Amino acid sequence: MGKLYCGVDFGTTNSSVAVSDGRGVRVLALDEHNDSPTSLPSLVYITRDNECIVGRLAADAFIERNVDREVILKQVDLGASIEAYVGGELDKEDGYRPPAPGQMTREAVRAHAIVEVNAPGRLFQSLKTLLRYRQFRGTEVFGTHYQIEELVAFILARMKAGVDEAAGESVERAVFGRPVRFSENDRENETAERRLRVAAELAGFKEVTFFYEPVGACVEYAMKADSRQRLMVVDIGGGTCDVCIMEFGGAHDTKTRLAESRILGVAGVPVAGDAIDRETIRRKLFPIFGSRARYGPSQLAMPQSLYNQILDWQNLYKLNNEETIHWLCAAETSSDQPEGIRRLRGLIQRNYGYVVAREVEAAKKRLSSALETRIQLEHEDVRIDERIEREEFSHIIEILLDRMLKSIEEAEARAGVKPGDIDLVLTTGGTSLIPAIRTMLEQRYDPGRIRRRDTFTSVATGLAIVAQYA
Ligand SMILES: Nc1ncnc2c1ncn2[C@@H]1O[C@H](COP(=O)(O)OP(=O)(O)OP(=O)(O)O)[C@@H](O)[C@H]1O
Ligand SMILES: [Mg+2]
Repeated sequence: MGKLYCGVDFGTTNSSVAVSDGRGVRVLALDEHNDSPTSLPSLVYITRDNECIVGRLAADAFIERNVDREVILKQVDLGASIEAYVGGELDKEDGYRPPAPGQMTREAVRAHAIVEVNAPGRLFQSLKTLLRYRQFRGTEVFGTHYQIEELVAFILARMKAGVDEAAGESVERAVFGRPVRFSENDRENETAERRLRVAAELAGFKEVTFFYEPVGACVEYAMKADSRQRLMVVDIGGGTCDVCIMEFGGAHDTKTRLAESRILGVAGVPVAGDAIDRETIRRKLFPIFGSRARYGPSQLAMPQSLYNQILDWQNLYKLNNEETIHWLCAAETSSDQPEGIRRLRGLIQRNYGYVVAREVEAAKKRLSSALETRIQLEHEDVRIDERIEREEFSHIIEILLDRMLKSIEEAEARAGVKPGDIDLVLTTGGTSLIPAIRTMLEQRYDPGRIRRRDTFTSVATGLAIVAQYA
């Protein structure tokens, strides 16, 4: 078999890989268990015996083995005194936020860890987002420390195995996509790319070149059209919204067309599908879990930090400790909304964080084709049946769409072009399927000039073409 050129799109939610053999490009099937085998869900499940499951089966294993299971937590003394910063908190959305000066104290504390005694495994989602958090170096999974690069490498290794099988040999050279901005913070941005490179090496890709993901989607389209044109790609996925404006000449052969192309401007923000899911949970489900309840003789407001933990379902189990559960029981009996607080307790005790997040994501997707749907959960302790209309949903995500629009304006400003100067606007990425996003684009560009490219594979396809010619 001849040489294969490889384009890798490691996504926040889905990953795909394409190869070009000089005659054509094809996207490889990576996950036979997924509805669409060419998309590998970017999920890793590690069992107690250090078995690592990647892709759709990771989600299935987690649900089958973890949900509905009673969580037993134990505080263990690690037998050492450590120096610790007290008062900082890791906010997944905005990065590490150090406390205000004076608020942070450095002190020696006895090292304790809360461990789940009976957990069969841990599931990791949106690892690409974690790449940027410099304070998050890795995590302990049943006594084995995994660095963030190693966790990402599990997914990349699966992709490499697919490429090697297609090539009949080990392919060590690849063009990787990266978002325009992993983070709005420059240092976090650099950290993320550096870690992704290390993860790629660990997976066996020894020679990696990075290109912006939306450049991949631009090239994918431009190679099929041989007229001179100015293209804009808006790629909105699970973690980032990326925009790229490129100009292509009219040359017939691909190599010349690519050589004569120019990137006029790029921009991006780390706001996409995951942020939309979180905002929907915050606005639609927090009240169902009693966020507006009052409790106690003074009718105090419920602590909102408790609710923010619902958004971080991967760590929700930590709330399942005696102290919090007793507190919730007490709050419930003295509250004006006892059923909401009971639901919250069920969510924590039964480990439903992930299923709630999945149901909200599924409802969001349904709203791309239906005008209304229901967010439903039918479990013994947690019953949810909440109607949501597309219009209400569009309103909930307005503020996030504004940030995406700013990114589009920024790309235009960098390229020095106006909306009317763009010949075609190409959309890709799962989140671009949301009708409110289409409407936002139609208000700015002639609707006849907006085209949808393959939602999940256009980036990898373009990157494979870049790998061959660039
Ligand atoms: N029909 C749909 N309507 C709305 N959102 C959708 C739809 N289908 C998928 N999504 C959302 O799209 C996102 C995944 O898209 P995609 O696979 O393009 O992201 P990604 O490439 O993994 O992420 P990124 O490029 O940001 O790293 C998820 O947030 C998913 O919920
Ligand atoms: Mg993507």
